[in-house]
Amino acid sequence: MRVLVLTGAGVSAESGIPTFRGKDGYWKNLDPTKLATPEAFARDPQLVWDWYRERRQRIRNARPNAAHEAIARLAHHTEEFLLVTQNVDDLHARAGIPAQRMVRIHGDIFVTRCSRCDFTEKGSGGSPEPPESWATKSKSGRLRSRNGCEATAGLSIAATFEKDADLPRCPECHALLRPGVVWFGEQLSRNELERVEDFLDGGACDAVIVAGTTATFGYIIDWALRASRDGAELIEVNPEETPLSRFATRLVREPAAIALPRIVDELIALG
Ligand code: OAD
Repeated sequence: MRVLVLTGAGVSAESGIPTFRGKDGYWKNLDPTKLATPEAFARDPQLVWDWYRERRQRIRNARPNAAHEAIARLAHHTEEFLLVTQNVDDLHARAGIPAQRMVRIHGDIFVTRCSRCDFTEKGSGGSPEPPESWATKSKSGRLRSRNGCEATAGLSIAATFEKDADLPRCPECHALLRPGVVWFGEQLSRNELERVEDFLDGGACDAVIVAGTTATFGYIIDWALRASRDGAELIEVNPEETPLSRFATRLVREPAAIALPRIVDELIALG
């Protein structure tokens, strides 16, 4: 059997990791889709690092849920299998998916890399992080610097002086280090893209599962459609409708941790 699985933040939701566009996704009144950008990092790297530090901590404390475990089981029972995840957490890996059967298309939150040169670092369980921001939360819920200035316009501009003092720097070129994830508007890794293309070129799939993603990126829909081109079942697992829903041959409007163990049992039984 040949199977492609595409996952997004919804698969980790039941492990306590907030999704990007869900109601819990906002952090200190800030929209994550605006924080995960090169522009936000250029404007306020301390703020962006604070957000990533908190997310790393939350992920370290989280455990894979039944959805991650079901996908790992499928990977072990399927001859030709690829998981493409948009999630930067390590929960799929911790559930037991071997690295060669998984493409982490938006990177790895525990990697830190240089914002200028090729320097990359991955510590076990985390790489260098700046000390906690000197920004504190005001009663209005906005970020406030120690001198009392409130941030405006969604993103903090509080840290305009001393702002880079405590941030981690590249040991080779001294530019700022940044999280090793793909931000909005950035290129996907050529290597990882090639791995997806190789799998798609290797033949049509028997089943394609798309779980826990709003499928806002065109490439997610494109890969799902290409993999299911010769009549494979295209299963969407998502409590909400998405742009992919109209192409799915089976819609499962349930949380991933409930639906995936059942779907995986069915696929494994089909052999
Ligand atoms: P989103 O936060 O956009 O979407 C999460 C999806 O999961 C939504 O469609 C929810 O309906 C669904 N969902 C929520 N709880 C669920 C559950 N328990 N079981 C199944 N589905 C559930 O996250 P993504 O689609 O992963 O990119 O976002 C894609 C990318 O946009 C992210 O990788 C990130 C983000 O900005 C970058 O940072 C480049």
